[in-house]
Order: sequence, then C-alpha cells, then structure tokens
Amino acid sequence: MFKKLEKHKQKIWQRGLWRTRCVTQSLPDAKVQINNEKYINFCSSDYLGLSNHPKIIKAMQSCLQNAGFGSSSSPLLSGYSVECKELEKTFCHILGFEDALVFPSGYQANIGILSSLLTRDSIALCDRLCHASLLDGILLSRSKIKRFRHNDSRHAQELMKSHPPDLFITESVFSMEGDIAPIDELSSLCRSSHTPFLMDDAHGFGVLGENGLGAVSYWKLKPDILTIPFGKALGMSGAIVLAKKDTISLILQHCRSYRYSTAISPVICAGALESLDVILNEKWRLEKLKKLIEYFNQYALEYDLHMVSQDITPIRSIHIGDSIKTLAIAKYLKNMGIYVAAIRPPTVPKNTSRLRISLVCAHQKSDIQYLVKSIRDALQ
Ligand SMILES: Cc1ncc(COP(=O)(O)O)c(C=O)c1O
Repeated sequence: MFKKLEKHKQKIWQRGLWRTRCVTQSLPDAKVQINNEKYINFCSSDYLGLSNHPKIIKAMQSCLQNAGFGSSSSPLLSGYSVECKELEKTFCHILGFEDALVFPSGYQANIGILSSLLTRDSIALCDRLCHASLLDGILLSRSKIKRFRHNDSRHAQELMKSHPPDLFITESVFSMEGDIAPIDELSSLCRSSHTPFLMDDAHGFGVLGENGLGAVSYWKLKPDILTIPFGKALGMSGAIVLAKKDTISLILQHCRSYRYSTAISPVICAGALESLDVILNEKWRLEKLKKLIEYFNQYALEYDLHMVSQDITPIRSIHIGDSIKTLAIAKYLKNMGIYVAAIRPPTVPKNTSRLRISLVCAHQKSDIQYLVKSIRDALQ
C-alpha cells in the first residue's frame, strides 16, 4: 500500500537512520527504567527536576479535584479555563508582555503562529538550524524562506538587505547544539530594519538569566513574539506565546492549530503556574545545574571530547559525524547503564550526527565522570 515508503525502508536502515522508541519509566535521581533495567538518564529536558516536584503535584491534584482533567473543548468554545487565564496573566506580568495565548504543545504554538502571521507574499528569515516546529510553520504559511548560517549575524544582515523579511525567527538556546544565539546583535539588526522578531525560548527559559526567567532577563530585551514551551525546564507540557495585544488578537483570528484543537488541560496550567513559582523560589536548582554544566565542560575538555559548544546550557552535544558510529556508541553506553540520545539526520544536517547529552540538576558529578569516561572508552 505504501510502496514509496517501503522502497525507502532499506535505505533508512542502511544509513543508520531507522527510528524506534522504547517504553520508559522515570525514576528519582535522574534515572530511567527501560525493560526492567535502570539507566542514568541523559535524555531528559526536565532540567530543574520539576516534573515530579511534590508542590507542583499537589497543585495539580487540587485542580484535578475542582476542575477535572479535560478542558472539553476548543479555547474558542468553552475550553479557555480560569487556570489558563491565570497562567497567561502571570507570565505577562513577570515578563512584561501585554497578552498571551497558551497552546497544548510548543509544536502547535510554533506552526500556528507562523502560519497565522505570514502569508504567501511574506519573506521569513530564520537561522539554518531552527527547530522543525518553526520551519514547519513557515512551510505551512507558504511564505518565502531565507535561512542564514547558524548564529551568523553577518550573514543574517546580508540576507536582510537582499531580501527584507517580514519576520525574523531564531532560538535563544539551540535544541541540538546547546549553543546560545548572538541575540544582542540579531535584535539590533531587527530594530534597525524594523523587522518583527520571533524568539523560541524553549531551552532558555528556566536556565538563562539570573532568576531563570530566560531570554528576557538574560538579554534585558523583549522580542516582538516569544514562545516558551513548558516541556523543558517547567517540567510540564504545552507552551505560551507572548506578544502585544494586537499581535495576539491577530493570531487568535487566524490560528488553526489553536482554534481546531482541544484546549490545554486546566490541570497542566495549574502545574505550570506552580512550576513558575518553584523556579523563582528554589534558586538552588539552577545554581546546581550551572555547576554541573561547568563541571561537564571542563571534564569533557580534559578527556578531549569534541563538544559542539562550550556555552553554559544543559544541552551538551558531542560531535561524532557518522550516523552508524553514533548509534553504536549510544548502544555501548546503554550497555554501560547510560541512556544518551543518538541524534541523526534529518533532525541534524548530514554528517553531523552526535550524542546529545541533557544535564539536569538531579545528576551528580559522579554521573558526569562515568559518562565522559565511558564515551572516551567507546571512541577508542
Ligand atoms: C526549540 C524548540 N521549540 C519547540 C519545541 C516543541 O515543543 P513541544 O515539545 O512542546 O511540542 C521544541 C521541542 O520539542 C524545541 O526544542
């Protein structure tokens, strides 16, 4: 029936690009159970350990008892809950935005806002390594797309001159590289050319800035549109989009992924609200995470591992190149009790397969020592 796909199957296999999934059970202390075996988990984006925080669980249980789990409807019908409104208000207040929209996932948020704000006649300028949800949103809008070399503000400037864009798009921390974008330079380019600036702060929120408030506090600036998915440091799921009132109301008129989908559960909104409170009040989590990242960077250098970036972010990628070799190393690590993602094309460009290591505040230095030594052994 799916003849074309069947034909591709063998190629995908041979190139080491075949995808599988495994059933996981998350355990305390950054461990995960798979098929009755326990592993140190280096694949989780729960950077601050909030996905099983007792205070957050309590807030969610209390909401569950009052409101039930399901929102029962689109947010444009009866699904826009009190908890969701409260979450939007709180984010707007803390980050200084006029208005917001909460989506059931970051993917839905990004495809929705881009396909709403861009038209067939628009030009979108984005970083070459932007997340699939941003690229898919641009594709859905059918606008022209121009991509500048990763984090290269000079190339961005050239493209801005030759193809004045209607929207500029980038991320604060790149999801597969773990490097921080040169936002000061990029936002000044946007300001001087009056180009609206959309930033995805998925991996910056909770991690960047003094209070973990992400890009806005780290760079002391506000992009025109900010997306914050909740599935990373907030330990939840869903996402918020923040912007001026006019922009949000425009999105509301056109956004199909918002309108034609059941609204986020009030329980998740209550959880995200409590996560925000924990981020602001339990600063030791971010402090510990930063120390672990610094330790990892230093230790990996000593062991001569080729890191994609030295920035202080929890995503630490080790460049391998070949997909089959990357898979073999991930398998070796699994045999050693370490769970690490082998990231391969099309998630990353050809010949840039890598081990993507996510550090979380529940890791110990000894976990990092064991990981780095094991990778070194696997490479020898
Ligand atoms: C940069 C970035 N944006 C958006 C998303 C999508 O968010 P979600 O997982 O909530 O769909 C992700 C990750 O999954 C991401 O890394």
